[in-house]
Amino acid sequence: MLRTIPFFQGLSDDDLVLIEGLAMEKHVPKGQVIFSEGEEGDTMFTIVAGRVKVFIGDEDGREIILKILGPGDFFGEMALIDRQPRSASVATLENSVFRVLSNKEFEICLERAPRIATVVMQALAKRLRDADRKISTLALMDVYGRVASTLLELAINSNGKLVVGEKLSQQDIANMVGASREMVNRILKDLSDRGYISVESKTITIHDNKLPPSF
Ligand code: CMP
Repeated sequence: MLRTIPFFQGLSDDDLVLIEGLAMEKHVPKGQVIFSEGEEGDTMFTIVAGRVKVFIGDEDGREIILKILGPGDFFGEMALIDRQPRSASVATLENSVFRVLSNKEFEICLERAPRIATVVMQALAKRLRDADRKISTLALMDVYGRVASTLLELAINSNGKLVVGEKLSQQDIANMVGASREMVNRILKDLSDRGYISVESKTITIHDNKLPPSF
């Protein structure tokens, strides 16, 4: 089963058996905070099933969602690599299953399968690219553009349709684009009235054949 997680793909069968024994399985119900920004941390998590949001919050309860992660993704590696406190908080969006590695076990994985270091570096490079894109979106686009580009970024092709894979609430989208829920509600309604999207029980379908070039 670990073989299906990209992080572990470089391991031999023997090493997989070893890691299988080391990486504890953890089940976390929907809506639980796994750890919070600023905490000390010496474990990293690979997602076997479920979804989590990586977010930064303030004292007033406002939050910005940096990323939504799903099966095959990992998180919590940064505190292991630079020995600094957690850079963000992580909470489950669904009932989720993880494989958890401690610092020591992470090092064993790296020793046994140095390819894992490349997987981690590639993931960090991708995160930096995504973060660069997000900074430019937040700084240069108005809220309408931010909602549109976030929907396109999250969209996947499902049976020939462009569908936002995540079932997101309007508050989730608001927290991803740094706007109020009311504003997101107005924009989704406008996009829907113009025929660019349709929304059905939290599933957003993008009608890309109707999109203007600027979308
Ligand atoms: P760590 O700092 O240990 O704890 C928070 C985790 O969130 C961090 O490790 C990364 O795994 C993850 N993380 C932080 N920022 C981002 C981001 N911009 N995109 C995706 N994941 C992130």
